Amino acid sequence: MSAPSRLDAEAGSDAREPSVITFDGPAASGKSSVAQRVARALGIPFVSSGLLYRAATHLVAHSGTDAFDQAAVLALLGAHMVELRPDVAGNDVLVDGRSVTSELHTDRVDAVVSTVAGHPAVRAWVSQQLRRVPPPFAIDGRDMGSVVFPGARHKFYLTASPEERARRRVGERAADLAAVAAAIARRDQGDARQLAPAADALHVDTDELELDQVVACVLDAIRASDSGSTASEPQGAAS
Ligand code: CDP
Repeated sequence: MSAPSRLDAEAGSDAREPSVITFDGPAASGKSSVAQRVARALGIPFVSSGLLYRAATHLVAHSGTDAFDQAAVLALLGAHMVELRPDVAGNDVLVDGRSVTSELHTDRVDAVVSTVAGHPAVRAWVSQQLRRVPPPFAIDGRDMGSVVFPGARHKFYLTASPEERARRRVGERAADLAAVAAAIARRDQGDARQLAPAADALHVDTDELELDQVVACVLDAIRASDSGSTASEPQGAAS
């Protein structure tokens, strides 16, 4: 499927980030899977903001830097070249020219990332990199619609119950359901400050929906909004 014409027509305009689509929500709410599929359907790149926080955390962990020391973390980031390469197919993160993407979704990174991401200076470092990405794109994270791209054309906030999110993530981690649920709860708590949804985001409760249904709901909402009509929402899914 090709991108809606208004996305094409307005690509490059910087008035209100008209061709940016944001997907925010807590860990394992399905943001990245949905954002990636929506981006593919629209023929635009997908950008994962979490990968930059994860790459910063990976650097911190491997250098023995104190994750609580904001100045030391910032100095570390300044001493290395971290590059996010967005694409329709996925994202790659390079640190000093070496791809570290396959090393970023680990329990070790999960355990420390909220601490690193909690530093205002780190958030400014990530936001600056993201704002340099040329639109159009679909981006996922915690504060994409609320802070980094407040003028985004379409904003979605995905939620699911803690139990459902733990069930979804358990297959991706070498840990049992209880351990995954506990890790997600810790991260929800650590990320609380970043998790407030944008006032104008469309909320999608994904508990009862398959991935394809969430994608269809989002694409419907985008098309309805772009054609000036009211979004038709699957019952109980969006608000
Ligand atoms: O996929 P999942 O939600 O588990 O994680 P992610 O999107 O890769 O984000 C990893 C971590 O990066 C989050 O737990 C946050 O601590 C941080 N993050 C953030 O603070 N702000 C964002 N926009 C994206 C991620």
